[in-house]
Amino acid sequence: MFLRNGWYTALWSHELRDKPVAKTFLNEKVVLFRNAAGEVGALEDCCCHRAAPLSLGEIAGDYLACGYHGLKFDVDGKCVEIPGQVQVPSGARVRSYPVAEKWNVVWIWMGDAAKADPAKIPDMPWLSEPTWAATPGRLHVKSNYQFIIDNLLDFTHVAHVHKRTIAGDPREATEPMKAERLNDGIRVSRWLLDVKPPPLFAKAGNFQSNVDRWQFARWHSPSVVYLDVGCAKAGTGAPEGDRSHGISIWSTHLLTPETELSSHYMFCFSRDFSLEDADMSKLLYEGSRATFLEDVDFLEAVQRNRVDGSLDGLVHISADAAQLQARRMLGSMISAEQAP
Ligand code: FES
Ligand SMILES: [Fe+2]
Repeated sequence: MFLRNGWYTALWSHELRDKPVAKTFLNEKVVLFRNAAGEVGALEDCCCHRAAPLSLGEIAGDYLACGYHGLKFDVDGKCVEIPGQVQVPSGARVRSYPVAEKWNVVWIWMGDAAKADPAKIPDMPWLSEPTWAATPGRLHVKSNYQFIIDNLLDFTHVAHVHKRTIAGDPREATEPMKAERLNDGIRVSRWLLDVKPPPLFAKAGNFQSNVDRWQFARWHSPSVVYLDVGCAKAGTGAPEGDRSHGISIWSTHLLTPETELSSHYMFCFSRDFSLEDADMSKLLYEGSRATFLEDVDFLEAVQRNRVDGSLDGLVHISADAAQLQARRMLGSMISAEQAP
């Protein structure tokens, strides 16, 4: 069901401060913590002494101290101290997961630690570089993560689901999309020329008339999707590469399965205009969250109808090409990983 050898997103960096954080990823209970030196550890959330959740403990300098009897663990899961006892048995350790911190995100590797290569984390400078203003958030969704990826690779739902936020023109429901298979994922794209601007973009970009609108989405296995979306005043050359009469927003979606039936959903709108404008940040944070909550209503309802998370027996339409390619690609990666 899940690809294990892949980088998943655990937390936004700012979510990990001076307290351990408990999360379930791929059905496994994990505790994340940042020690006094700033290093991040991700350990099985179960003490090797009497099985207390380590997330009930506290940060003690470079270590995480169990809240039950005070055993201390380093970021690699090794027990380094037992109160009232000189010797620490060599087997006193808990499982640790490889982690990496990049683009203001704490990434976790749930598979074979020897295969964890941080160079494979997708490049997303718009999440952390000072030339961008990012407005990150988080949702918890009672849906299998693949339904969420399906949704993000399908632009036609925008016209129906997002009438109040990012839908602008009825042609969004019908204009074809181009899906391409890449080495490590799928790209799907389209242009909508001379259309009504969507309400959220009209506000952010102060558009009074029709726009040329672009939507480029990229899925990276296992479950990162980002979109380069924007609008420019119609006929000002955006399709030829001149975006100076418009606004671009990078819309990032970082999904991690919690269980087969639920997912962690970290989202972020990043912009390269009005960087210091707090009202713009508020508009885009609240607008993006409201948009994705519109998706959540559908995703959770779909999940209730499709408990096994599959698309078996359902009818596909031409707009589904990208999501079907992504499902096939991920499916063969999972099969290859599980092959004896
Ligand atoms: S259960 Fe953790 S120290 Fe005893
Ligand atoms: Fe949506």
